[in-house]
Amino acid sequence: MQKLIISAFIVALVAGDCNLQCPSGYMSFKRTPTAANGRTSLWCVKVILPDEPVNITSAKALCKQDGSVLTTFENEDERLQLADALIAGLKEKQRTVGAMFLDGHRTSQCETQDMSVLKAAPCNNPATAFETDDKHTDTTFMLQSWAHTEPGGTFYEKEIESCIQLGISQFERRDKKINDILCNYAKSPTKVTASDLWNFGAACGRLPDFQ
Ligand SMILES: *[C@@H]1O[C@H](CO)[C@@H](O)[C@H](O)[C@H]1NC(C)=O
Repeated sequence: MQKLIISAFIVALVAGDCNLQCPSGYMSFKRTPTAANGRTSLWCVKVILPDEPVNITSAKALCKQDGSVLTTFENEDERLQLADALIAGLKEKQRTVGAMFLDGHRTSQCETQDMSVLKAAPCNNPATAFETDDKHTDTTFMLQSWAHTEPGGTFYEKEIESCIQLGISQFERRDKKINDILCNYAKSPTKVTASDLWNFGAACGRLPDFQ
């Protein structure tokens, strides 16, 4: 009997992927497992937009409350699915433009106002100046998906724009693209009325459940 149970368990394990399912409310992103995405074959993603815009701390907390972590897109299809989910969420707020936090920030080395550091490698290259906390996503594609003239690396007080948002914009060259933004603000303190830059929420991701 014990042998039978063990065999059944092994069969279930081998059947593997067939039984992995994203929780309800989450999109299913099928991925090609590679070393760069932690060998992820299915990643579950949900756009969470609370009533009021959020800073990075609150954005991460939103994901955590949902059993997830801040996440981002790995390819064009995922970028567009995230953008569509953001558009739908904004529409519920009677809005047509706005942004949300994605996983991704300057590396500690590149989070500085020292121009000699920012102008040299690796910080002078957007592909190497930023990293994600979560390792289930290959960031290569995202870090090529910047809005026109971004990352701007604007300074404000002692900070540099370090976090990453995905925006729905009235400007075509910014629409559905990423932008670097001050982490600790829900709305950019230098452009408070630019609602296309407000962080309305977060893209949250988690592994599927084993059904
Ligand atoms: C982030 O937002 C929360 C909620 O509004 C606030 O309590 C907190 O002080 C903010 N964090 C920073 C670093 O500004």
